[in-house]
Amino acid sequence: MVVSTAALPRHRLYAEHVNPQWVRLLNLLQMNERYERCYGCELFTSGGRRILDFLSGYCVHNTGHNHPAILAALHEELDRGGPAMLQSHVPELAGELALRLCELAGGLLQRVVFTSSGSEGVETAIKFSRAHTGRSGLLYAEGAFHGLTCGALSLMSDPFWTEGFGPMLPGTQAVPFGSISALEKQLATKKFAAFIVEPVQAEGGIRVPDAGYLRAAQELCHRHGTLLVFDEVQTGLYRTGRFLAAHRFGVEPDMVVLAKALSGGLIPVGAVLMTEAVNNSVFSSMKRSIVHASTFGENVLAMRAGLATLDVLEQESLGERADALGADLRQRLSEVLAPYEMVDGVRGAGMLSGIVFTAPRQLRLRVAFEAFRRIHPGMFGQVVVMRLFRDHGILTQICGNNFLVLKAAPPLVVSEAQLDEFVAAIVEVIDLMHTSTSFWNEALSLARRAVNV
Ligand SMILES: Cc1ncc(COP(=O)(O)O)c(C=O)c1O
Repeated sequence: MVVSTAALPRHRLYAEHVNPQWVRLLNLLQMNERYERCYGCELFTSGGRRILDFLSGYCVHNTGHNHPAILAALHEELDRGGPAMLQSHVPELAGELALRLCELAGGLLQRVVFTSSGSEGVETAIKFSRAHTGRSGLLYAEGAFHGLTCGALSLMSDPFWTEGFGPMLPGTQAVPFGSISALEKQLATKKFAAFIVEPVQAEGGIRVPDAGYLRAAQELCHRHGTLLVFDEVQTGLYRTGRFLAAHRFGVEPDMVVLAKALSGGLIPVGAVLMTEAVNNSVFSSMKRSIVHASTFGENVLAMRAGLATLDVLEQESLGERADALGADLRQRLSEVLAPYEMVDGVRGAGMLSGIVFTAPRQLRLRVAFEAFRRIHPGMFGQVVVMRLFRDHGILTQICGNNFLVLKAAPPLVVSEAQLDEFVAAIVEVIDLMHTSTSFWNEALSLARRAVNV
């Protein structure tokens, strides 16, 4: 029997059968919209609102929503009726996409293992680095976000993500992001297969390391026989202006994990780029040719979308755009937000920017801020997100591991007028935060309700 769902209240099926708490949180934040159409940087709701996307699904939509060229490539592939995946043939498109990725990455990255997500890419990096080095230890940076599977979780220091899911992998060790001396001390023990690090920490608070940090890390890793793995799940595919953030820093990692934006935000995908030597350590004989794989990893739609996405990124020079417009955005934000004491600065690379908040000095603001922090440390930034969304129709997020940093990461096709809109909106919200008691009253009441949600 087919049950008609037309008459059911909005989101009831999701709340009843998927994740009720997510629906409650969106309701609390007044962000529970029903989206009907999405193009480029704009999202259109069933209620007639137009929302500007400055979140990009956590850096998935580098090419903008539903890019027509990527849609066309997928339609064509579906109409062809060829093999989606057989697990008993050579998926030629995977070879084509791997070649393109290796050419763009350059250097010694000559082999690719495809996955269906970023976390799975991190798991792949863990396995391959262990196989290659014969060591089991794994180094990672404090504040990192690498995904929510157990291996990836074992490389994250914030207990919020790991609580209740242990035990994690043994032999992992965190080092402060940016500290060469701490890294060297750990590497010298020669216990570690890999140092897995985001070249720019995204969820950690859009933390861009000093110019020499990653180059020094590469040199040290080589000296101590540890592989350097860059998690470029958010920073890759021109997000920071170059194909890889590694290129910005002049570093050649032994492995790079890509995912998210690789398929135009349309098909689950991931790719781990690695050297031939690392790859051969796992695929060392015919018998071992299937020892690491993933059912959907090389599926034809992901591969086709990947090829079309790379075409769009290159043809529309989206890296150069991200670089130029992103730098301009940060410059303007720094200027207009300079008078506000609760803004500590603006930082980022390419079209990945963070507005960093800090505790106020003025007593009047400080009392409100501290009261708020005591009730719910995570909610302060969420109020900014909520205000931007509700009052200005702009979708943003707070960094997952740093609640005092608002992330601005629009699709790389964002227009200058849309960036202007964002700047005007954020100034208005931050001004309100500094001048209006209604901002804090609303924020406090939200925080109290959040505690009970
Ligand atoms: C840097 C980084 N690595 C890995 C992941 C995990 O990717 P996925 O959610 O596709 O598994 C994420 C997800 O946000 C990420 O930001």
